[in-house]
Amino acid sequence: MQVIIARSVAEVAVLGAAHCQRLIAQKPHAVLGLATGSTPVALYQQLIKLHRQAGLSFKQCRSFNLDEYIGLAPEHPQSYRYFMQSHLFEHIDIKQRHTYVPDGLMAASAAAANYEQLIQRAGGIDLQILGVGRNGHIGFNEPSSSLVSRTRIKTLTCATIADNQRFFKPGEFQPSLAITMGIGTILQAQKILLLATGATKAKAVKDLIEGPLSASCPASALQMHANSIIIIDTEAAADLQHTEYYQQVKTETELLENIND
Ligand code: F6R
Repeated sequence: MQVIIARSVAEVAVLGAAHCQRLIAQKPHAVLGLATGSTPVALYQQLIKLHRQAGLSFKQCRSFNLDEYIGLAPEHPQSYRYFMQSHLFEHIDIKQRHTYVPDGLMAASAAAANYEQLIQRAGGIDLQILGVGRNGHIGFNEPSSSLVSRTRIKTLTCATIADNQRFFKPGEFQPSLAITMGIGTILQAQKILLLATGATKAKAVKDLIEGPLSASCPASALQMHANSIIIIDTEAAADLQHTEYYQQVKTETELLENIND
């Protein structure tokens, strides 16, 4: 794993977006794996900026999101389809029919098998963006998830339901089930970019980078991937013990060098 410690949330976003930009420059019909949640919002804003100001085009790209709540229609404001429309898709030139989010209303097993087939038919994912839960989950692969799991329905842990309660109004139905790409599905991406920012992620970041490979921290599965990059800010890096092994962005010049890498 390449670990990069950036100085701020903004720098994490700039570096993450630079990886996407470089991939699309090399492969305009790239297949992107996308995540929702608070972490990738700054990255998506940076991609929108590059689209508007630097001509970054997603016209030939396809995208596959990691997960979706079971029981929420695509137009529900808390659905992950709605999130992607409002935070990214409506602001760039990706074709709507080339954006895939698992179907939270389809019969469960059919939706899961269908999603795996769609990813395969698209030629697999070139670059998978990930956030990480405080409990180490990736997608909705909660602790104890099989490290070779495929797309399926998962019951969310109480901790994840509590963490995501902030997105729902008081009294609003909050799903406790989700359809998610499996860890095995995620590991098949050519390249993985995990972003984490803020002190609440420090323990998960330590466990995933320096802890043992374990289903207790699903994100530690990235240790088994040949091309994974972890980009974190200093707050999320606070619990790491072996900072001498990692790349620390200290100046603006280093940030730019990293982008040109
Ligand atoms: C969302 C997803 C989740 C989030 C994780 C972190 O599609 O797959 O694994 O990445 O829960 O969420 P935030 O970024 O809101 O802290």
